[in-house]
Amino acid sequence: MLLIGLLPLFAVSETIRLSYRETVIQQRMSELKYTCNMAAGLMEGDSVGASLTDEVKKELNWIADYVGGRILIVDDSYRFVFDTFDIFGGRYCTSEEIVRTFWGENYSAYISKTQYLEFSLPLSTRRQLSVMDDTINGVMIVSASASWVTQTIDTMTKQVRLLEIAGCMILTALAFLFSYISNAPWNKVLLTLRQILEGDLNVTFEAEDGYNETRQIIETFNKILERLRVLDASRQEFVSNVSHELKTPITSIRVLADSLISEENVPVDIYREFMSDISEEIDRETKIINDLLALVRLDKSTSEVNITPVNINGLIEQTLKRVRPIAKKRSIEIIFESFRPVTAEIDETKFGLVITNLVENGVKYNNDGGWVRVSLNADHKYFFIRVADSGVGIPEDEKDKIFERFYRVDKARSRETGGTGLGLAITKSVILLHRGAIRVDSKPGEGTVFTVRIPLKYLP
Ligand SMILES: Nc1ncnc2c1ncn2[C@@H]1O[C@H](COP(=O)(O)OP(=O)(O)OP(=O)(O)O)[C@@H](O)[C@H]1O
Ligand SMILES: [Mg+2]
Repeated sequence: MLLIGLLPLFAVSETIRLSYRETVIQQRMSELKYTCNMAAGLMEGDSVGASLTDEVKKELNWIADYVGGRILIVDDSYRFVFDTFDIFGGRYCTSEEIVRTFWGENYSAYISKTQYLEFSLPLSTRRQLSVMDDTINGVMIVSASASWVTQTIDTMTKQVRLLEIAGCMILTALAFLFSYISNAPWNKVLLTLRQILEGDLNVTFEAEDGYNETRQIIETFNKILERLRVLDASRQEFVSNVSHELKTPITSIRVLADSLISEENVPVDIYREFMSDISEEIDRETKIINDLLALVRLDKSTSEVNITPVNINGLIEQTLKRVRPIAKKRSIEIIFESFRPVTAEIDETKFGLVITNLVENGVKYNNDGGWVRVSLNADHKYFFIRVADSGVGIPEDEKDKIFERFYRVDKARSRETGGTGLGLAITKSVILLHRGAIRVDSKPGEGTVFTVRIPLKYLP
């Protein structure tokens, strides 16, 4: 940024310096030309040589002294007829500049190496009283010291350099100030980010009255942080739930086994009873592990789905066939109502879990002698499965929570019915995988209705 500021500064100051130098040289040059033209005006005669009277020579010498330089005069035969230094008198001159001056092209230059100004003036000395003869018959060559010009330019250059240095300093100070002001909130953000990286989520990003964008970014950071906290809390809860759930059957097995070991001569039927209890606990442990594995697989965002056209009526019939014996034990009637044959693109194995869990729940959380009614319907876009039961129902404020992992409304009853609270979490994951939706309506003591809506065509 500093560089972007400095480049124009240098460019502008250099332009000013050069144009000033040009102006000073031009000004001095025109002053000198004016003086020399005055002298040339005094020269009158048929030839240049003839016009060089003592008076003219005196004047030219005086001017040469005054400008601290030298004046030479060449006549129309390219011979030096006058030299204030008295060196070139009588010699011939063939310099290109002089030839050009005879043709009407005046020459002028500033020679910075020697610090001299040089120029040529055409002379026409033939004059009659009334008629002006403009024929160029001689050339005056003047070289004058330009030390004054050089000094002025030097002084100017020094001033410009001083200004440049001041400009540089001001720009540098401004750049530092600006970067300090614009970095201040970010330094704090960086500090907070490092704290988070070290595992401390109980921090907040400080929003100052800075730029609107900065504030918005900081607010967004805080929202992300809030999400992270929620995620972290649910992760911790999940881990502690998992370990608790996995430990429970193991503890029971241990108690059962220990009591068998500690007693001697245990009757065979007690052995049998305890062993079948142990076997049940092992089943329970296996179910929890399988459910967890199913959930983990579903959690992977790229979980492989095996989509095929499936006859939903058939799938429901199959599931009901498996659940009916369990329901029969408690005289619970299972009714299937199909409004039309439905074929949809789904993952059969995964979707089987949805139907199984919903129907099993309907039976598990039901009263003896109750009913479970499953109905299937479809429109042009979706199919709908409705599982209604005459069971215990779900209190209003628990309706959202039942989809959380390990959440069970009545812990004692669920334990008795062998539930782990993972069924509906799996159900919801599978439904979301199929871009569907699930809702629950319930009246405690009267019954519960789960409604599932799934697109007929799978949307990847
Ligand atoms: N049809 C229902 N009627 C009343 N309560 C229900 C019904 N379905 C679910 N619930 C409540 O929601 C809780 C969570 O259900 P979910 O299916 O997730 O777990 P679960 O049935 O206890 O165990 P799992 O399905 O893992 O064997 C249940 O424990 C129960 O309290
Ligand atoms: Mg269940």
